[in-house]
Amino acid sequence: MAVETPAPEDTRAVAGRLAELLRPGDLVALVGPLGAGKTCFVQGLAEGLGITGPVTSPTFVLMRLHRGATPLCHVDAYRLSGAEELVDLGFDDWLQESVVALEWADTVCDALPPERIEVLIDYAVEGRVLRLRGIGPRSARIIERMKSDDDPRD
Ligand SMILES: Nc1ncnc2c1ncn2[C@@H]1O[C@H](COP(=O)(O)OP(=O)(O)O)[C@@H](O)[C@H]1O
Ligand SMILES: [Mg+2]
Repeated sequence: MAVETPAPEDTRAVAGRLAELLRPGDLVALVGPLGAGKTCFVQGLAEGLGITGPVTSPTFVLMRLHRGATPLCHVDAYRLSGAEELVDLGFDDWLQESVVALEWADTVCDALPPERIEVLIDYAVEGRVLRLRGIGPRSARIIERMKSDDDPRD
């Protein structure tokens, strides 16, 4: 599904709706240029998962775990050497215990499980455009749900 978000709070609101459908083991793979709004989207995820407290870019710490009813593991692959380093850091363990939001997912393709939600963020004339795609059966169902929630005929 594609949705235009004129302002940061719109991006956070879309993420908040997605968050309601997530549980530990789900991966949100974020792709988009610097400043597109990947961290902004993760802030919306955190809010939707009921996590309080600030969510800032984990570029330098690589990973930050936000505790809550549904824990959120926020990862930034920007400074990683590649997929292997992500796996060495414990990527699979994080995914066992939490929802994982991964910025710069395209730089670590080889480490990504086949089941994931891809969020592509790009600049638009006004604000941003978000493209959400469910890869794998569970993720596809989640995106279908978001789409039908969007449809006033349902
Ligand atoms: N529609 C929008 N959605 C998301 N962020 C937006 C939007 N419009 C403006 N912004 C701004 O763009 C910046 C996005 O920064 P950030 O989320 O850190 O990007 P990234 O993590 O992709 O590098 C923020 O300063 C945010 O306020
Ligand atoms: Mg960021």
